Amino acid sequence: MTPVWFMRQAGRYMDEYRALRQRYSLLEICRTPDLATEVTLQPVRRLSVDAAIIFSDLLLPLDPLGLPFDFIKGEGPQIERPIETPADIDRLRPFEPRDALSHVLDAIRQVQEELDGHVPLIGFAGAPFTLASYAIEGGHSNNFAKTKSLMYAHPDAWHRLCETLSAVVGDFLLAQIEAGVDALQVFDSWVGALDASDYREFVLPHTRAIFDRIGGRVPTIHFGTGTATILEELRDAGGDVIGVDWRIPLDEAWARIGHDRAVQGNLDPTLLLGPPARMFQQTDALLGRVGGRAGHIFNLGHGILPSTPVEHVQMLAHYVHTASRRLR
Ligand code: CP3
Repeated sequence: MTPVWFMRQAGRYMDEYRALRQRYSLLEICRTPDLATEVTLQPVRRLSVDAAIIFSDLLLPLDPLGLPFDFIKGEGPQIERPIETPADIDRLRPFEPRDALSHVLDAIRQVQEELDGHVPLIGFAGAPFTLASYAIEGGHSNNFAKTKSLMYAHPDAWHRLCETLSAVVGDFLLAQIEAGVDALQVFDSWVGALDASDYREFVLPHTRAIFDRIGGRVPTIHFGTGTATILEELRDAGGDVIGVDWRIPLDEAWARIGHDRAVQGNLDPTLLLGPPARMFQQTDALLGRVGGRAGHIFNLGHGILPSTPVEHVQMLAHYVHTASRRLR
């Protein structure tokens, strides 16, 4: 049976999440272990998923580094004073995640107590490129112009920034392992903005340092979007499992990554908006490409969209289980 979980399986598409968000901000939920625990468990109660992912946000480490931010309604994250110069990079303060992010670690312990072995818990953090892009752009970007300009104009400062991010993220992930996560996903959501040669020069050593620090203590997933042209580079940076978005057929991606690694993906999240017949048809096509080969984790190519009907997510999780059992 193919295991299934969904990126953003907790969130706005669920009534019970929206109800909590009426009373608390996203950051309040992230910083209150009772609330983060509740939201982590909401999808596990509603969907037949085979994993929970700790409810948190990729940007949390930016604040203790010296880059405070907030989420602005309808606009997404906004960093108060984004990095503009090499001097701004030298002002960043490495920190101890067991202190500054202890609320995430407390939530992990609390979730594990409640799950009691029912399904594994995935912890996560952002990879250096994606974190740097928020720190430099100040929010979301379409072309990553500021990030790439800094990278090209001040390569030494860029590498210092990524070394700092990689050290902090490595510490944070080790602390999550100590707190009890069963697996880790490293999100490099926006790294598809780079070509293979820039990836190798500016990103690969820093992301690899993170996987090296984890050193096989728990299984790891390395995820990005828009990565069809840099899959080999992502693989070389590390990860027992490589996450693949929907823009490339999964069998083609897997052949390039190599069958000695597992893969995760890659249904287009917009298919969950409906109609269900097309969602099922494309799920059949995806499972057909896998052809019963061991080492596939079913997921979407990116996160669940807020306008997704929860019934479609429920049906899909169930469908993947029954259809993949038939194929084996
Ligand atoms: O269920 C899960 O997947 C766990 C929770 C989770 C959140 N953020 C909660 C969240 C995870 C894994 C993340 C990671 C994250 N955060 C990423 C990488 C994953 C990806 O989607 O590529 C990124 C880039 C961020 C930064 C971030 N957080 C952005 C750009 C936004 C705003 C965009 C949006 O969707 O509104 C967020 C907000 C955020 N983080 C929400 C959730 C559920 C939105 C919900 C809300 O406002 O209540």
